[in-house]
Amino acid sequence: MDRRPEPSNADELLAAARAAAEHAYCPYSRFRVGAAVLAGGKIYHGCNVENASYGLTICAERNAVFAAVAAGVTRIEAVAVACPDAPAASPAAYRMPCGACRQVIAEFATAKTRVFIDGVGHFNLDELLPHPFVLRSLDD
Ligand code: THU
Repeated sequence: MDRRPEPSNADELLAAARAAAEHAYCPYSRFRVGAAVLAGGKIYHGCNVENASYGLTICAERNAVFAAVAAGVTRIEAVAVACPDAPAASPAAYRMPCGACRQVIAEFATAKTRVFIDGVGHFNLDELLPHPFVLRSLDD
């Protein structure tokens, strides 16, 4: 984990992620997740949205990234994730973004994009996903 001091936007981004979790639709897991994406000075948010056909469920992080992209964003500066239903004593793994979401974040981020995990700490994206799949020039 990166122990550098968190940038000043971390608290605001984490607060946005916690607020987004309040809108989670999760009648099956009862596990709310909220995510916030910082891009171009704006915050975009998402929550997990489950479905009776379980595999159609979408994670909070991907919904936040897709909301940002739908608003015209092509570069993500930071991401925050909050899992308010994770038991206080649970391992950090309960609060970490899944692999699919890490790959989706990587599409619009850099290796050093900051990811703030509520109750866990902060990471560079390349700590969470060291070798993303890439099909475009890294200069794009
Ligand atoms: N979930 C997320 O929203 N993000 C993740 O990174 C992992 C899991 C959601 C999906 C499902 O609605 C619930 O958490 C339990 O898996």
